Amino acid sequence: MSATLNAPSGTSASPTATGAVDYTTKIPNNVNLASDGRVLKALEQWHPGYIDWWMTMGPDGFQTSDVYLRTAVSIDPKGWAKFGYVKMPEYRWGILLAPQDENRLVNFGGHKGEKAWQEVPGEYRAMLRRLVVIQGDTEPASVEQQRFLGKTAPSLYDMRNLFQINVEEGRHLWAMVYLLHKYFGKDGREEAEGLLQRRSGDDDKPRMLGAFNEETPDWLSLFMFTYFTDRDGKMQLESLAQSGFDPMSRTCRFMLTEEAHHMFVGETGVGRTIERTAEAMKAAGIDDPYDIARIRALGVIDLPTIQKKANLHYSLSLDLFGSEISTNAANFYNSGLKGRFMETKIEDDHALTSATYPVLKLVNGEIRTVDEPALTALNMRLRDDYTKDCQGGVNRWNKILEKAGIKFAITLPSVAFHRHVGEFKAIKASPEGKLLTDEQWIKLRDQWLPSKSDGDFIASLMKPCWEAGKYAGWITAPKVGIDNKGSDFEYVKIHQA
Ligand SMILES: [Fe+2]
Ligand SMILES: [Fe+2]
Repeated sequence: MSATLNAPSGTSASPTATGAVDYTTKIPNNVNLASDGRVLKALEQWHPGYIDWWMTMGPDGFQTSDVYLRTAVSIDPKGWAKFGYVKMPEYRWGILLAPQDENRLVNFGGHKGEKAWQEVPGEYRAMLRRLVVIQGDTEPASVEQQRFLGKTAPSLYDMRNLFQINVEEGRHLWAMVYLLHKYFGKDGREEAEGLLQRRSGDDDKPRMLGAFNEETPDWLSLFMFTYFTDRDGKMQLESLAQSGFDPMSRTCRFMLTEEAHHMFVGETGVGRTIERTAEAMKAAGIDDPYDIARIRALGVIDLPTIQKKANLHYSLSLDLFGSEISTNAANFYNSGLKGRFMETKIEDDHALTSATYPVLKLVNGEIRTVDEPALTALNMRLRDDYTKDCQGGVNRWNKILEKAGIKFAITLPSVAFHRHVGEFKAIKASPEGKLLTDEQWIKLRDQWLPSKSDGDFIASLMKPCWEAGKYAGWITAPKVGIDNKGSDFEYVKIHQA
């Protein structure tokens, strides 16, 4: 498709009851922006600042390349995307909400059973705005973290996936900015500006959450980030999709359809890295996964280092769930603004007035389970759901090793390991959850987290591999391509600026 402001081919030009996207306005949308002059104007005024941000903080050096991207053209779960070559600055970032269900109710908390709200309840305005801004802030942050990775892409396929994720995180920013402009008046506009001003890792104006100020220095980090940190995003979106504030729910439901691909890139990226390492070890007759120097000499990433990267990204992502015990979380729930993962599938009173939930706590220098009121333990519960969700892909990584006959298994470290938020932030613990003194931690840290020399080794492998069908030596080709194209398709036509 040509990279212009025209509709992607095959799309209808006007919104319909099935939720087709209106491409006649500058900002594609299915929220009837054309008849909402105030919001359309506000978004059109925000647009140049966004493009400016994208050009300075988005993928560095590839803004004139043609990238085989999917663009959302409908909200039908079966056929919402169209594929075609697009120059990223011309991507049609749009406002897409899942269809409105007239009969939807508030499904939990103190307002359970009321009709879902189409406007922001005045008493919850500040709380809701905070939820929108925190979610919104993570979206551009990850683009900033990943902006130099195109230069070391291990293949055009991987490069395309990176850029797909980047443009969609940009769209997620649009989704939150729409809510701010539409429902929060002047302070919403100010928050929307703020989202373009903070910068990942900046000393003066950092992004709001810790993991989004860390570096993503190499492709293994990117895959771990999209596996572990995008999955935190999934859990947050899932609980916001339960919101009694219907526009929030509808926005998050559509964002989740895009998010699935981000986690797929992470899971398969780590899996392909592990697979290549296993292949190389077998070909060289190396059985011992800890024979690190010989394995590295093969030009692949040794499994203990992959484990360290998993330890790092998992523990940073756990911090995103906040304190185990949180009155904010209880207030969000009571107010009907943020529910639990799969709220409507849970069989209980959805009010949690007398229920308890087991929480891991530090009691007299020991990690123990303590029953706490379920309402204040909602962050802990969501984090537990997250851990279960993480385990699935880890099991599939281990299947690859099992099949190759290599005696090594990736494990998720204890939730007490390497934490900066919550119950365990003040202590040091091993990945097995054993408490350590500071001296022990300093001595052992590099066995569990990537060291400077691990980083240097991985960096030495990060050489661009940009010929269609070629893959860097440390990673295997994917089993299937994107949009039924092969692994040798030219996913990016590079024109470097
Ligand atoms: Fe996102
Ligand atoms: Fe994402």
